Amino acid sequence: MKHYVLIISAVAALGGFLFGFDTAVISGVNPFIREFFDLDEILLGWANSSLILGAILGTLVAGKPGDWLGRRRTLMLTALLFLISALGSALAGSFTEFVIYRMIGGVAVGAASVISPIYIAEVAPAGQRGRLVSLNQLTIVTGIFVSFFSNYLLEQLTQNNWRWMLGVEAIPALLFLLLLVTVPESPRWLIINGQVERARRVLSKWLSEAEVEEEIRDVQSAHSAAVTAGVTVLLKPGYRKLALLGVVLAVFQQFTGINVIMYYAPLIFERAGFGTGSALLQTAAIGVINCVFTILAMRFVDRLGRRPLLIVGAGSMAFFLFTLSLTFFAGRLDGYWVLLFIMGFIASFAASYGPVVWVLISEIFPNNIRGVAVSVATFALWSANFIVTATFPSMLARWDGGYTFLFYAAINVGSLFFVRAFIPETKGKSLEQLESELTA
Ligand code: BGC
Repeated sequence: MKHYVLIISAVAALGGFLFGFDTAVISGVNPFIREFFDLDEILLGWANSSLILGAILGTLVAGKPGDWLGRRRTLMLTALLFLISALGSALAGSFTEFVIYRMIGGVAVGAASVISPIYIAEVAPAGQRGRLVSLNQLTIVTGIFVSFFSNYLLEQLTQNNWRWMLGVEAIPALLFLLLLVTVPESPRWLIINGQVERARRVLSKWLSEAEVEEEIRDVQSAHSAAVTAGVTVLLKPGYRKLALLGVVLAVFQQFTGINVIMYYAPLIFERAGFGTGSALLQTAAIGVINCVFTILAMRFVDRLGRRPLLIVGAGSMAFFLFTLSLTFFAGRLDGYWVLLFIMGFIASFAASYGPVVWVLISEIFPNNIRGVAVSVATFALWSANFIVTATFPSMLARWDGGYTFLFYAAINVGSLFFVRAFIPETKGKSLEQLESELTA
């Protein structure tokens, strides 16, 4: 019975795989489209940022269908968008077409980052929710790794290699779409939308008869009506503070500097004396570290709880960024120390803010506003991602690595204190229990 929940969670987590693949695939495509479409710096920047802008848009549009159509149908639409984007960008005849299809992919990325965690949180038993939602982070980092690896293999093709790099994503997208046909709608969504009989059938796949009735009663008594209101519902007194917590946490996830490191790591490695030829080795190392430490987080997130992971993670990210900044100040960017600091930072993120922020965002909001609330928090996350990645080159030019990484180290210290003061522990509690505790 528990296996069933794991399987349907894994299907939803394919949304994370496509999220990771789609965001990372562009790095291998860049050198070839630059030549093919004859792009200058600005247009090349646009080829990259169009996906993030699409994702920002995707978070905004996903919440409503998530609440109205249901989680499953929204995920299906998302899978379809991934498919269209993969094929469209691979076959693009002009740069404009390319950008449009990348943006469509971005909308899918944004929507998947809203709905996949919600779906998993809603089907998961309370004591395993952290682990199951973290599965989505594991698939994100796997998607990143697989795209790097497939880019590496496809680069050898002499013709149209960049088209293949983008086009292969159609395979997991199609698989996602087909597998979604086999998963049930979220029972919590069914109950608050008055489809109790269907919810009963779904729940009885993994709960005993008595547990099914108890779950239905809990969800019903927590909230009898589905909310049809838009975002303004988040301004209501009971919800305002929670919405703010979700938004700030999401922004802190990006201001850890993770994507700066992911993006800049190859260049730092190069400056530290690892030749460009070692790109594959670095990619593999980052991929392995990411997966191993995410799995570690999955083991501990329901046992130790969300808060300890975040607090230790923020402290350790601050430490590694600080050491990295010192190596820049000292002008001694060489060798294995730099590798160690970067890997240490990535490991710390993978074991904490990577998975845990998604877990918390998916569980702190009441059933009836979850779609719209997660959508707003995730909107903040992608907007922060955009700001961090857009400002990084000029920060580096003006401040050099020393002050830039010191800045991010300081933000992680701030984040640590924020979590200590404001983030509630949610491990082991049902969504309905959290609802009554957190909105009180
Ligand atoms: C973050 C992404 C990041 C990824 C890989 C996710 O949790 O939201 O911005 O690229 O982890 O580490």
